[in-house]
Amino acid sequence: MKNPGKILQTGMAFWASKALLSAVEMGIFTELAKGPAPFEKLSGRIGLHPRSARDFLDALVALEFLERNGDVYSNTPETDHFLDKRKPSYVGGILEMANHRLFGHWNRLTEALRTGLPQNESREHGKGVFESLYADPARLKEFLSAMTGVSRGSNMVIASTFPWRDHGTFVDIGTAQGDLAVQIAKANPHLSGKGFDLPEVAPVFEEYVLENGVSDRLSFQPGNFFEDDLPKADVVLMGHILHDWDLQTKKMLISKAYEALPDGGSLVVYEALIDDERSKNAFGLLMSLNMLIETPGGFDFTGKDCKSWMMEAGFSSTRIEHLAGPDSMVIATK
Ligand SMILES: C[S@@+](CC[C@H](N)C(=O)[O-])C[C@H]1O[C@@H](n2cnc3c(N)ncnc32)[C@H](O)[C@@H]1O
Repeated sequence: MKNPGKILQTGMAFWASKALLSAVEMGIFTELAKGPAPFEKLSGRIGLHPRSARDFLDALVALEFLERNGDVYSNTPETDHFLDKRKPSYVGGILEMANHRLFGHWNRLTEALRTGLPQNESREHGKGVFESLYADPARLKEFLSAMTGVSRGSNMVIASTFPWRDHGTFVDIGTAQGDLAVQIAKANPHLSGKGFDLPEVAPVFEEYVLENGVSDRLSFQPGNFFEDDLPKADVVLMGHILHDWDLQTKKMLISKAYEALPDGGSLVVYEALIDDERSKNAFGLLMSLNMLIETPGGFDFTGKDCKSWMMEAGFSSTRIEHLAGPDSMVIATK
């Protein structure tokens, strides 16, 4: 029997999405991480108007982001772990950015699809996404920690499953706050590494590395990958970098990574790779539409695409390994 359920659920999915984003914005999960709270106390503390306070909190219960026992609300184990701002496991940075920026920008998806033009701040300033974000230190920090949120799960898998024992040094290109470098350094005490990114990123990287107690083995290298060679290392990593750029830039970055590696060294590219049939990884395909909204030429790609660019750059072998959620890595060996 035909059923319109999925059509309607997806069509109205922005209701649930915005309810969760507003809950993060208002700090509900951070508040409840201090302990369960009765309705009156909780809605008073987070400043909810009485008209819809109960509907809002109970919607979060029905969506399985909160639990309620009698009149007392508490976090679920997942929201307590991942959405309490005071815990290192917080992944809400990406949701904060989705709330402040992407939710509004995606309202112009149809225009982007018709014109091929980005629909973010660049509409007003004519600048690229990184230049406009980096002009404002608060937005810069929000963006960089958003990257940590979206990448944390995969960073931990790369840190523990890549054959690090065969290598001594690594460099993470477009390192943002440096979470990948931090997770690799924490899990592999014999390694030292660098985070390479635009100079504005330095203070955010350095603070994060210090907080995580690995500043003796990690350093920041300021640079611009359009102008500079990449730092030499046994392993070069690029997380969610290639999808920001057009095909010519993707190939240029893969070639620069090749130049930075010794024989036997590896390039690790990781992204929400689209499946080779382009029909299953909806997150990867929607991420590519997000690149349409955010960048002039960026797009996501399949593992097969990436392998062919790597072989073209001269790498001798490539393989793909799944990481976490929609992310996979392509490993190329020189
Ligand atoms: C989408 S973020 C990815 C961050 C991180 N690798 C991750 O996966 O979470 C892209 C990063 O590339 C950096 N970037 C952008 N343009 C750059 C350039 N020309 N040279 C060096 N880094 C750049 C940005 O500052 C940002 O940190």
